[in-house]
Amino acid sequence: MSRLRGKTAVITGAANGIGLEAARTFKREGANVVIADFNEEAGKKAEEANPGVVFVRVDVSDRDSVDSLVQTVIDRFGTIDILINNAGITRDSMLSKMTSEQFQQVINVNLTGVFHCTQAVLPYMAEQGSGKIINTSSVTGTYGNVGQTNYAAAKAGVIGMTKTWAKELARKGINVNAVAPGFTETAMVAEVPEKVIEKMKAQVPMGRLGKPEDIANAYLFLASSESDYVNGHVLHVDGGIMM
Ligand code: CAA
Ligand code: NAI
Repeated sequence: MSRLRGKTAVITGAANGIGLEAARTFKREGANVVIADFNEEAGKKAEEANPGVVFVRVDVSDRDSVDSLVQTVIDRFGTIDILINNAGITRDSMLSKMTSEQFQQVINVNLTGVFHCTQAVLPYMAEQGSGKIINTSSVTGTYGNVGQTNYAAAKAGVIGMTKTWAKELARKGINVNAVAPGFTETAMVAEVPEKVIEKMKAQVPMGRLGKPEDIANAYLFLASSESDYVNGHVLHVDGGIMM
């Protein structure tokens, strides 16, 4: 119950789904937890339901908004030890029909957002000589997926940035890793047509979708000192769909 005692963790996109489950898990393990999310209503609800967890509104695609988030966290807690770049969106469409706007929206949040948040926390982690950065990729980022040109590009890009930062930042005491979830039971997947879900389930050796806690537990491992010698890794948490 104390694997993260005294650590301050910023989890983006934590008002819902996987991030919210991670916020609960990290709080239970003794961390100061900041839910950094675009959705004010869900963020406030999450804050009320989880005493001690703090909500700060942010749009990760907007650099000024991210800088303001980081300043708020530093003013309140004095440090940022853990960053989980978990915020993400989908704008699914077949390539033949995908608009430039759909393409760009997903890149702005799922790829540029990860760049913004990591660059903004870097000076604080570098100064203290330690930090854990966990980026959320996806099975789509390595495997591809029908209807997800934009999302696959962003999630593959996240893996490229993870490995680059693992090399750049190790000497500053910062570990950078990625988690690549398979299809997981959240609002994001609720939008997927049932026939597609059935096709996906059939490909998972374990025969079920992931649960938010499956992913939150992987974040916890990578955020804790138990993973101090793990760097530049992509941890697939997908019931074995990616082998
Ligand atoms: N895998 C396999 N086949 C798929 C598929 C998928 N992911 N998505 C669509 N298809 C198939 C459909 O079953 C359909 O096949 P049939 O012609 O044999 O029926 C064909 O592709 C065309 O699909 P639609 O008729 O639905 O075409 P559309 O233009 O109306 O809609 C779409 C296209 C918006 C992409 C829609 O099919 C869709 O929403 N698909 C799901 C896409 C998906 O898997 N998104 C994942 C969201 S969750 C997430 O992103 C988390 C994560 O990291 C994995
Ligand atoms: P979700 O839709 O339940 O939660 C995503 C959260 O991100 C929401 O609270 C939303 O408000 C927030 N968000 C969206 N845009 C934002 C922005 N610009 N700034 C700040 N916050 C923003 O989704 P879920 O499933 O919990 O996804 C979490 C992460 O896991 C995402 O990066 C997603 O791509 C990834 N993922 C999800 C999978 C799944 O099957 N659910 C599979 C693989 C990866």
